Amino acid sequence: MNDWLEISGRRAVVSGAGSGIGQACALELVRAGVVVWGLDRDENALAETAEIAARDGHTIHVSTCDVTSADSIQAAATEVGASDILVNAAGIGKPGALIDVSIKDWQALLDINLTGYLLLAQAFAPGMVERGQGSMVHIASISSRHPQPGSGAYSASKAGVSIMSQQFAAELGPAGVRSNTVSPGLVRTPMTESYYQAPGVSERRSAAIPLRRVAQPDDVADVVLFLASDRARYVTGADITVDGGFVTTLMGTVPRPGFDD
Ligand SMILES: NC(=O)c1ccc[n+]([C@@H]2O[C@H](COP(=O)([O-])OP(=O)(O)OC[C@H]3O[C@@H](n4cnc5c(N)ncnc54)[C@H](O)[C@@H]3O)[C@@H](O)[C@H]2O)c1
Repeated sequence: MNDWLEISGRRAVVSGAGSGIGQACALELVRAGVVVWGLDRDENALAETAEIAARDGHTIHVSTCDVTSADSIQAAATEVGASDILVNAAGIGKPGALIDVSIKDWQALLDINLTGYLLLAQAFAPGMVERGQGSMVHIASISSRHPQPGSGAYSASKAGVSIMSQQFAAELGPAGVRSNTVSPGLVRTPMTESYYQAPGVSERRSAAIPLRRVAQPDDVADVVLFLASDRARYVTGADITVDGGFVTTLMGTVPRPGFDD
């Protein structure tokens, strides 16, 4: 399948490459023959990603980078050089109801999940424009359209990512640069692992999803690789939901006398 993508030899930079979805993207890209630079603020996590790749005989280049810092991003961009592909995956969650979320928490989340994506795009897209080709894939979430209660600025950050990606698509399409989002549903990663440690959560979440399982990071990474590749050459400003059908289930949650089993 990876040969079908024909992305071997391309260069990619992946944020959040130390864990979860970003790590899976970095590993799948390098297995597809892409020269991969992984960025993360967690140096040890990055080293672990590089080590997993090395076990398969692949090299992932790493650069420690905090996406909330323009200086840190500039330093990473200088180290990485030109890139054909940008995958924005570094992100966090923070609990809090909107009615009393502190501005400090609100801003801290937006700084990583939204402004961090913008800063990385601003660092790598100009080179893509110069070369007349490139693909940006931003990890959004089903929360960009379906608010996630009790999660502070999370849904707002993902809605921002969605419209930002579409604006990039409109602005950079004439230069041959594409911008798309992937919106995962429920994915088991270090970010969410604590939920699944609670008894019954994995089973109840799986039962709520038409495909009857929670996603693994690879389920998302495969779609990211497709969008990054020329196989998606006429796809820009789009979003692909990767949720096992979860968002289609709304009408099944209410009683419909005469139609229920
Ligand atoms: N796990 C899910 O169910 C799920 C669902 C939908 C969307 N997402 C999104 O997918 C993306 C990846 O999430 P994940 O589940 O793999 O999480 P994760 O916690 O496993 O990985 C996130 C990575 O981002 C890094 N990071 C955090 N802040 C950073 C910063 N300031 N600078 C650089 N790196 C930073 C972390 O160190 C970590 O390695 C996030 O944007 C998340 O919102 C996750």
